[in-house]
Amino acid sequence: MSFELIIAETRGRVGLITLNRPKALNALNDQVMDEIGAALDGFEADDNIGAIVITGSEKAFAAGADIGAMASFSYMDAYKGDYISRNWERVKTCRKPIIAAVAGFALGGGCELAMMCDIIIAADSAKFGQPEVKLGILPGAGGTQRLPRAVGKAKAMDLCLTARFMDATEAEKAGLVSRVVPADTLLDEALAAAETIAGFSLPVVMMIKESVNRAFESSLNEGLLFERRVFHSAFALNDQKEGMAAFVEKRKANFRHD
Ligand code: CAA
Repeated sequence: MSFELIIAETRGRVGLITLNRPKALNALNDQVMDEIGAALDGFEADDNIGAIVITGSEKAFAAGADIGAMASFSYMDAYKGDYISRNWERVKTCRKPIIAAVAGFALGGGCELAMMCDIIIAADSAKFGQPEVKLGILPGAGGTQRLPRAVGKAKAMDLCLTARFMDATEAEKAGLVSRVVPADTLLDEALAAAETIAGFSLPVVMMIKESVNRAFESSLNEGLLFERRVFHSAFALNDQKEGMAAFVEKRKANFRHD
């Protein structure tokens, strides 16, 4: 897959998307989001891909939505043009797991893009923030909703209202990121985690993603019921037979992803 503002490639069973707009610190304009969406379409359709990594540069994962592109928007441009929903939601609807590998700035829409992913692995250089308030707007790609779910109300309010940045250590302590690693090992760590995930049964991995996400959409009892039904359905998979046989026979499972 060939694009202008991102690089999409495969590494084993992992699809890797690298944001590649260095002069604008990977600011997210329509073209970038369209290209991410098209790359995700390709990876979702490819049976040989089991997990996806989205990363940026050493300096910036992404410094936000493109301010230049938004500056002259009227209300109707934003509303009728369905700004954000029109092409950012594709990340949310991806059924394969996505890891955000974040170094440098992840601000505004950049932080929101990372939060749309399933796991955030941060370099020790990462800085997270929702500084939209300084621009006379508010977060518009999920910041006011996903950040409090990740870090709680107090810290989410603090970040959204003061526009201050949170470093990687604080982000890990707050629960936004799952691991912090040295900047020079970020991509290797993220690819290794993605390769581990991609080695497991793809339908099971998709069921786990769907079930964990259900925890944020439903009551505990509804979520538990959903999990139980999906758990029961896993027994219809060849991969369940293989996974359990491999355990009993003390060998590595060879999943066929069905
Ligand atoms: N949009 C467009 N261009 C951006 C950008 C953005 N979000 N962030 C940085 N850039 C551009 C700069 O304009 C600059 O371009 P030029 O060289 O052509 O002037 C280039 O990237 C480098 O940026 P700086 O010179 O500012 O670099 P710095 O190291 O001094 O500062 C920074 C880095 C602190 C990240 C600073 O660039 C910054 O504050 N960026 C804006 C962050 C922001 O407000 N993000 C939220 C955007 S709104 C949003 O995302 C809405 C939403 O919820 C969807």
